[in-house]
Amino acid sequence: MTRAFPLLAARFQAVAAATEQRLALALAAAPEAGERRRPERLLAAMRHGALDGGKRLRPLLVVETAALFGIPLDAAITAAAAVECVHCYSLVHDDLPAMDNDDLRRGRPTVHKAFDEASAILAGDGLLTLAFDLLAGEDAHPDAAVRIALVRALARAAGLGGMAGGQILDLAAEGRFDGTGPQALTMAEIRDLQAMKTGALLAVSVEAGALLGRADDSQRTALATYGKALGAAFQIADDLLDVEGTVEAMGKSVGKDRDAGKATLVSALGLDAARAVLADLVDEANTALAPFGARGETLAAAACFVAERQN
Ligand code: IPE
Ligand code: IPE
Ligand code: MG
Ligand code: MG
Ligand code: MG
Repeated sequence: MTRAFPLLAARFQAVAAATEQRLALALAAAPEAGERRRPERLLAAMRHGALDGGKRLRPLLVVETAALFGIPLDAAITAAAAVECVHCYSLVHDDLPAMDNDDLRRGRPTVHKAFDEASAILAGDGLLTLAFDLLAGEDAHPDAAVRIALVRALARAAGLGGMAGGQILDLAAEGRFDGTGPQALTMAEIRDLQAMKTGALLAVSVEAGALLGRADDSQRTALATYGKALGAAFQIADDLLDVEGTVEAMGKSVGKDRDAGKATLVSALGLDAARAVLADLVDEANTALAPFGARGETLAAAACFVAERQN
């Protein structure tokens, strides 16, 4: 990443540092107004799940989309941290024994391994809730109407018709609930599942940046096209990396999707055809940025990064 996209690498670094700082502040030991106290074990499990790790791609998308409209990093970082909280919660729960049953995440033991299952479930609960706490505060945006729009967009991306919904489709495709074994999904079904379980949070990252920047309708439509294409590309790259990546580079297990009977474009189409779909999606994402001209350069680099990343 750093060699291919030097400009993007600098942006990633700045956004990751600011995200870390904002999350660390939100996960401080002292209780906030309205809280009684912050139990040490739960706080430690939440910090393990959220701090010091990950690419921070979703915060980058929030910040860089907001930057298209002249919004500085500081003014976008609380919303960015909120989206990252939802993402981290989704990873903590995704790794649970009842879900993908993984022991390694971001190069460290998963939260249920470092702590225990109940603590991991509660850490996820705490991180999801914290996301909406962050969005409700004035540092997310001075205008309450914008904050409400952010809350609703993130809730819809995370919940029943978004990430959580996509996760149950992912598990159902393994044949988990009726004991029938892996299901052969159609391409449309796989696209749907992936757009929900992964695409929705990436797309809402872009949408959040557009909301912060008060983008007009045509700009929002263009950015929605970009966000959806990037989200779809991201999961295909993740599925390719499950086959071709290494544990060392990824910091998580690889080679598990096939054994688990996951429905992926790689299992449906094979590696080469999945790579071709990925390339088309990156083109689609970048074409959608045309109205922003040279200002869209960082987001365009982010789409290329999604396809070419090694972790
Ligand atoms: C991994 O997301 C989970 C998926 C949605 C496929 P990332 O690859 O963005 O994970 P981190 O945040 O960098 O660890
Ligand atoms: C996860 O998809 C999507 C989430 C909502 C977390 P995966 O199960 O493929 O993600 P990894 O490979 O464990 O990161
Ligand atoms: Mg999963
Ligand atoms: Mg998983
Ligand atoms: Mg995966």
